[in-house]
Amino acid sequence: MNASTPNDPNAVIECQNLGRNFTIGRGLFAEKKTLRAVQDVNLKVQRGEVLAVVGESGCGKTTLAKMLLGLLPPSTGDIYFEGEPLQNVDRHSIARRVQPVFQDPYSSLNPRKTLASIIALPLNVHNVGTSEERKKRVEEIMEMVGLPRRLLYSYPSQLSGGQRQRVAIARALVMKPEVLICDEPTSALDVSVQAQILNLLQDLRKELNLTYVFISHNLAVVEHMADQLAVMYLGRLIEYGASSEVFANPRHPYTKMLLNSVLTPDPSLGLPGSASDGDFPNPLDPPSGCVFHPRCAECMPQCMTTLPGILQDDKGLVECHLYTETAANAA
Ligand SMILES: Nc1ncnc2c1ncn2[C@@H]1O[C@H](COP(=O)(O)OP(=O)(O)O)[C@@H](O)[C@H]1O
Ligand SMILES: [Mg+2]
Repeated sequence: MNASTPNDPNAVIECQNLGRNFTIGRGLFAEKKTLRAVQDVNLKVQRGEVLAVVGESGCGKTTLAKMLLGLLPPSTGDIYFEGEPLQNVDRHSIARRVQPVFQDPYSSLNPRKTLASIIALPLNVHNVGTSEERKKRVEEIMEMVGLPRRLLYSYPSQLSGGQRQRVAIARALVMKPEVLICDEPTSALDVSVQAQILNLLQDLRKELNLTYVFISHNLAVVEHMADQLAVMYLGRLIEYGASSEVFANPRHPYTKMLLNSVLTPDPSLGLPGSASDGDFPNPLDPPSGCVFHPRCAECMPQCMTTLPGILQDDKGLVECHLYTETAANAA
């Protein structure tokens, strides 16, 4: 694989060896440390497909999302958008074609603006159409996301959480983008409202032939939506493949653990979003060898010392000593 070209020019988004580091401890006397928020991520998203990215809080999902949106430059590796290196694509063009939907509809909507002006903002920024055409487009998109027209001149504070997330989705869709990057779009909502927003996103995808990168800490949320599933742990992509395959035959012990915690009826066993088993490692001082080994039910001696190689086959990708011989790339 040539690092300067996409390996699949038909993919809408492709990442090669993508990584992002943060330097922690900028104080005068503080020791500087490097936090590897995302490391060595290789992913592809095909047109019309849903790629779900799952993993516990702190594993690097939002950092990945920001890089895909062009909001955060990678420290290593490359991102391609429709075969073109992202850094070569005009910023305005990316903003038109790839839109975010973030977790918190409370902080992402300007409280002093009406729905009409919030949703129309991208049209104004990109100077699309006449004011009459913009108004029509706003009404059309509001209908599409299930917001009644009478709310046109309401303010975010007058809406429910679910309605606010519909506004955020309307704003994301108003420019007719090709890709939505949804970062935990339902995590801040009540459970009953979550399902409505998920259904809306599903319907819109079919109707508008959208491509999604759908990020969640909750496997149950993505099960019915994902075509491809990427599981992250401490910045690394540890399992990746067709969603149905990964759900049916998870290979990485961490994926198995996530699936078990989704299926378990006992809340004291902890939820994957909270790392309540207390062992979530410090990302500034990651474990040696396989970063998952301190929590792994199938830990072997080599797991404590050596980074596993990656097995890539027709079922997908897994980074685990159970499936690879010796370390191909010892750290
Ligand atoms: N701007 C930043 N500066 C320093 N560390 C950051 C920054 N953004 C994220 N991190 C760290 O990077 C890791 C991944 O964070 P994030 O991408 O937000 O994870 P997730 O979305 O999966 O919860 C965390 O350890 C987080 O503390
Ligand atoms: Mg996040």
